[in-house]
Amino acid sequence: SSRPSVKIVEVGPRDGLQNEKTLIQTETKVSLIDRLADTGLSAIEATSFVSPKWVPQMGDAKQVMAQITRKPGVSYPVLTPNLKGLESAIAAGAKEVAIFGAASESFSMKNINCSIAESLARFEEVVARAKAEGLLIRGYVSCVAGCPYEGKIAPQAVADVAKALLDMGCYEVSLGDTIGVGRPLEIRNMIDAVTRVVPVEQLAIHCHDTYGQALANIYASLEAGIRVVDSSVSGLGGCPYAKGATGNVATEDVVFMLEGNGFSTGVDLSKLVHVGQWISGELGREPGSRVARALLAK
Ligand code: HMG
Ligand code: MG
Repeated sequence: SSRPSVKIVEVGPRDGLQNEKTLIQTETKVSLIDRLADTGLSAIEATSFVSPKWVPQMGDAKQVMAQITRKPGVSYPVLTPNLKGLESAIAAGAKEVAIFGAASESFSMKNINCSIAESLARFEEVVARAKAEGLLIRGYVSCVAGCPYEGKIAPQAVADVAKALLDMGCYEVSLGDTIGVGRPLEIRNMIDAVTRVVPVEQLAIHCHDTYGQALANIYASLEAGIRVVDSSVSGLGGCPYAKGATGNVATEDVVFMLEGNGFSTGVDLSKLVHVGQWISGELGREPGSRVARALLAK
């Protein structure tokens, strides 16, 4: 069809699962990733090569990468906060990595134990090594609308970090409303500040749904020209360094909205709803997606 496409970056296996208190079997994570790949998703963030002392749930990153079935045309990015993580990711056969900074100093300290400036210096090394290895590098900016420790964040702080990440060689930067406090007008103003210094084609939006604003914020991002959306199957997730934050917007809800609004996502909603139902069952809870609940009730 001639409908414009929106790329969905599925972050459930990483952002979704990283905050689960009980350790999930590697086999379940692998099955989740493989099932997601069968829905037509073209990017599935698989795991994180972070310190297992900081995020125990991601301690099996190496095994996850070894056991997934890599489907042609699907990318499986992994988080790499530093060179140590990058080397492990390379050894595990990762082809795409993500570095993650923040627009808030306090969140940077809590999340990766260094200041924003220190993180950017660290990321320069990671990017240089990743490029030498031929990897693609994605960037994140967290706390683009608000910070659990500092409150509101200035759009210019987001623009500065986003530009720094793109300048060092990220192909795309994902703007993360880590704690889901942004509202459409705030998100729009933030994106406008960022697009004054970087092209909108290199931006993605990453919304958490704590205050129920995620879909509205994504719509505002689409109006601003963003065409890449991060989401998590069944709305899994939360951030270990952002108390009270809920999961990402549910992928099912995003697909339902986009497909009904003239965009194509390449994702089979019915298959996705069943993956969401399956992983929710594995975790012992009801599906977190409103669209999934409505469709399953039919
Ligand atoms: P640190 O303690 O400052 O690191 O942590 P260090 O270099 O001093 O090393 C301390 C220990 O960790 C050493 O081990 C290292 O070997 C080990 P020891 O000698 O004590 O046995 N270590 C590692 N082990 C495995 N993999 C590594 C690694 N690095 C060091 N890569 C560090 C700094 C960055 C490592 C730590 O703070 C960390 O792992 N942070 C990750 C936190 C995290 O994963 N947060 C969630 C993801 S971000 C997010 O969710 C937001 C996002 O979704 C967007 C949004 O919503 O806004 C992306
Ligand atoms: Mg997140």
